[in-house]
Amino acid sequence: MAAKAWGGRFGQQTDPRVEQFTESISFDARLAAVDIRGSQAHARMLAKVGLISDDECQQIVDTLDEIGGEIERGELPLRVELEDIHMHVESALIERIGDVGRKLHTARSRNDQVSTDLKLFVREAIETVDTLLVDLQRAFVARGDHDIDIILPAFTHLQRAQPVVVVHYWLAYCEKFERDRERLADCLSRVNICPLGGAALAGTTLPIDRQQTADELGFNHIAANSIDISSDRDFLIEFTFSLSLIAAHLSTWAEEWIIWFSTEFGFIKLPDAYTTGSSIMPQKRNPDVLELIRGKTARVMAAVNQLLILVKGLPTAYNRDLQEDKIAMFDAFDTVVACLELAPDIVAGAELQVEHINTRLEEGFLDATTLMEYLIQHEVPMRTGHGIVGKLVSLCETKNCRLADLSLEELQQACDKIEADVYDILGTTNAVRALTSYGSGGRRPVEEQLARWQKRLNDT
Ligand code: ARG
Repeated sequence: MAAKAWGGRFGQQTDPRVEQFTESISFDARLAAVDIRGSQAHARMLAKVGLISDDECQQIVDTLDEIGGEIERGELPLRVELEDIHMHVESALIERIGDVGRKLHTARSRNDQVSTDLKLFVREAIETVDTLLVDLQRAFVARGDHDIDIILPAFTHLQRAQPVVVVHYWLAYCEKFERDRERLADCLSRVNICPLGGAALAGTTLPIDRQQTADELGFNHIAANSIDISSDRDFLIEFTFSLSLIAAHLSTWAEEWIIWFSTEFGFIKLPDAYTTGSSIMPQKRNPDVLELIRGKTARVMAAVNQLLILVKGLPTAYNRDLQEDKIAMFDAFDTVVACLELAPDIVAGAELQVEHINTRLEEGFLDATTLMEYLIQHEVPMRTGHGIVGKLVSLCETKNCRLADLSLEELQQACDKIEADVYDILGTTNAVRALTSYGSGGRRPVEEQLARWQKRLNDT
């Protein structure tokens, strides 16, 4: 059995069940590449300040490269008794270059090391997620020119409310994902503060140069308090929260399209490659991918809770509980990536059932609010106009007709301010055309926003 790196003061071997219980190599092996990068930067700094020689530094850096390659190719055996990725790398180094390898951990602890690794990992993860978010935005925007003439009833309370150009929906999703990108960028500003050199919790008596490691690893700042460094997982929680909100947005979209895909709505047809059948009902085509995007959101959201609960009772500085942080974050990250990788093709492949949508476009009095605003423009107080249109809707319901089917006499009986030009705004198509305010769902404002998005994505 290998002697423990920390075994000096121990009189007994560790119980194998304790090794099994405390290991993290089964999930932190994926930090190998960032761990090695961090260690190489640390070694260069040690050489610069004279704690190791240039030759020793070179040996360490080269051997770490070798070890990194072996881990990547699955050639380095992973052993629970070595606990975690940090110990695997260090013990492989010592095995190969002996005493020189024994110098690497000078002025460093696994506490600042694991935090550095996590920050390097999250930094790349943010970039991955950000790129995928842009891909998804592109998929929505790419539908823009094709879908710009299609009108859809928009719903509040899942009740028909007002009509919009369908592209308004596509861009609504884009706005949400844009805020997600902003949140990630903001999170990155705190990820980009270097913990390395905080050592265990109190810093070190050795003459290290923290700026040098921070610079080499591309961090913008150095964390200013070693005891804070040792316990800080804010960046991980923020990142996981950002992932949760992405998942929430994906889930909203998925839910919406699941509804639209139902026979009752019949707004959209999902591509066959992204739907599945039933083992018993031959006619079925199920939106399983969208359902699972909605379903997997639960574990991403759970991860934020897991992390918050993990840190809430810890005294400041490192506690072993923190080892569990990676499980939650990796899972949230992998889940969101998996969803984002599938989403753009679903968006690109979905077909709006325009004919079916149009057959029912005049249902639900989508132009009622437009009529009320017509009255406002004819000097009727808003609340009075609301009442008048309400009565007219009720009249239509008894006559089983649309507002646009009422005669001018009937309309004028309800309100003498109404003139013949009212028919220019009645009916769903007219109502959409009448929507002109900035950010509204009418043809013109949506075209403006679409152009803005096309330009923005071209520039990205
Ligand atoms: N595997 C540990 C973790 O992920 C590394 C840090 C261990 N530090 C310690 N003092 N035992 O948190």
